[in-house]
Amino acid sequence: MYQRSIDDPAGFWSEIAEEFYWEQRWNPDEVCSENLDVTKGPIKIEWFKGGRTNICYNAVDRNVESGNGDKIAMYWEGNEPSQDGKLTYSELLDKVCQLANYLKSVGVGKGDAVVIYLPMLMELPIAMLACARIGAVHSVVFAGFSADALAQRIVDCKPKAVITCNAVKRGLKLIPLKDIVDTSLVESAKNGVNVGICLTYENQSALNKVDTQWKPGRDVWWQDVVPNFPTKCDVEWVDAEDPLFLLYTSGSTGKPKGVLHTTGGYMVYSATTFKHAFDYKPGDVYWCTADCGWITGHSYVTYGPLLNGASVLIFEGAPNYPDPGRSWDIVDKYGVTIFYTAPTLIRSLMRDGTEYVDRYSRKSLRVLGSVGEPINPTAWRWFYDVVGDSRCPISDTWWQTETGGFMITPLPGAWPQKPGSATFPFFGVQPAIVDEKGRELEGECSGYLCIKKSWPGAFRTLYGDKDRYETTYFKPFAGYYFSGDGCSRDKDGYHWLTGRVDDVINVSGHRIGTAEVESALVSHPKCAEAAVVAIDHEVKGQGIYAFVTLVDGVSYSDDLRKSLIMTVRSQVHLLDDVWSNNLITNCHFLFLTTYNFP
Ligand code: PRX
Repeated sequence: MYQRSIDDPAGFWSEIAEEFYWEQRWNPDEVCSENLDVTKGPIKIEWFKGGRTNICYNAVDRNVESGNGDKIAMYWEGNEPSQDGKLTYSELLDKVCQLANYLKSVGVGKGDAVVIYLPMLMELPIAMLACARIGAVHSVVFAGFSADALAQRIVDCKPKAVITCNAVKRGLKLIPLKDIVDTSLVESAKNGVNVGICLTYENQSALNKVDTQWKPGRDVWWQDVVPNFPTKCDVEWVDAEDPLFLLYTSGSTGKPKGVLHTTGGYMVYSATTFKHAFDYKPGDVYWCTADCGWITGHSYVTYGPLLNGASVLIFEGAPNYPDPGRSWDIVDKYGVTIFYTAPTLIRSLMRDGTEYVDRYSRKSLRVLGSVGEPINPTAWRWFYDVVGDSRCPISDTWWQTETGGFMITPLPGAWPQKPGSATFPFFGVQPAIVDEKGRELEGECSGYLCIKKSWPGAFRTLYGDKDRYETTYFKPFAGYYFSGDGCSRDKDGYHWLTGRVDDVINVSGHRIGTAEVESALVSHPKCAEAAVVAIDHEVKGQGIYAFVTLVDGVSYSDDLRKSLIMTVRSQVHLLDDVWSNNLITNCHFLFLTTYNFP
């Protein structure tokens, strides 16, 4: 299959695309048109040009219409082990249609942006699907970002509506999400962006609605309006190249990048990668621990699995609450067969020993997956031997927000594994390892990881910033997409990712630009200059290390250190003051030295 995908990409991807419903078929001679070479003109990537489809229809209606309406689409496990819920594909369709009808009723239409700032409730994928159904462009912002970071994204994409909830409890911490949204909307208004609608879901498990601040006219309770709308909503057929979503990610400058994905190619790619890299079978119960605020939650909580008619588990809580056995408790409770997580979670659970794992049977597990950062061989072994009882293959999937889906990944059982290697490229992907002059290296080598040809799931631009798109990804090595990662290839052709080679730090699989942290630090009145680098961290992969120069006359103290850290938290990420029970987003600051310039 790989050879065919390289020799005849148009034929290979067309056959797969035909498994989906297209209101209008793409032009057969325009399956893919591309230019990845800046020296030959503007960068262009287009797939299935001329085709008209809808990803929500394919992910939901198509499953109902093919007789799987009663199959579970989503299981939901709340923060407390006693809280759970589920939705069949038919029920999911009804809920998506009601929300889509509500959004239409308040004037949201094709091409309009909608910001979603929700925790892992079923309403989060429902909101994504409702936007897709009516051709609106969703931009999910991870509900761990600060009000400033949220405002920055709102100002950039100017949404017609924001969808949020009152609050969420993760572990023992209560996070008042609506208050954070309120602050960000005030901030956005100061920057000229007024959002007319703030649809707020009442998360029963978290807070009572009387405690929530309210701005009548703008704020609307989801439960007061959405259930009143009809459960039928016509699909908006969109062009294959119409935008599906915007997702902001950190780059090497302070401003986050709005990665834009379009509809047709992303649909085909997220579904196909899911199916093969996890060896998906219709009876599987699939759990990806990522939040929908990241690309992993877009492609492998929402779209990829639902496009395959899978049963997906959504977990609201924290992996160490009420104790570090929670993940395995959930695996047994739902009979999870495919478990996809991040190395940082594995390393943090490793510290608690095997006792919490051994308490649970985990018999149902069949395939394991890892994503977000290089998995060190020790963590890989523990995942394989302890969690998977040495019988479940591990798919170590290398990919990025920009790639939309897996790029280098094992296919379970298809070839021997090597702990810590993401192995070989997925169908249609042609990786190239180049030296600093952009010369492609052959055989056993080490260098910069690039991709030679486009693939259907590739992002199409950075929203509103085509120059930055070309400069960041296509100018470093003409003719190639540059990933920003280092990689080596061994004598057997296996790929070993070595981490970022640009100014991006990967803390627990979360991308943080050094410039974002630096600009937050220098906004502190006592900080003159700041330089931020990564340090190795046992659990988080990398930690953040800041060198700060204080303004003249200010001396360093522990209180000042705390105040600097708080400044960063409030501008970039809510980090551990809010998420202390969630090891995944814990961040780590150390100050190596301070120096007062005379
Ligand atoms: O450095 C690579 C690392 O995560 C970066 C992409 O981050 P983001 O866009 O936030 O997407 C994360 C989820 C896909 C990459 O440039 N990365 C991701 N997966 C792996 C990885 N590094 C090594 N091995 C992986 N499996």
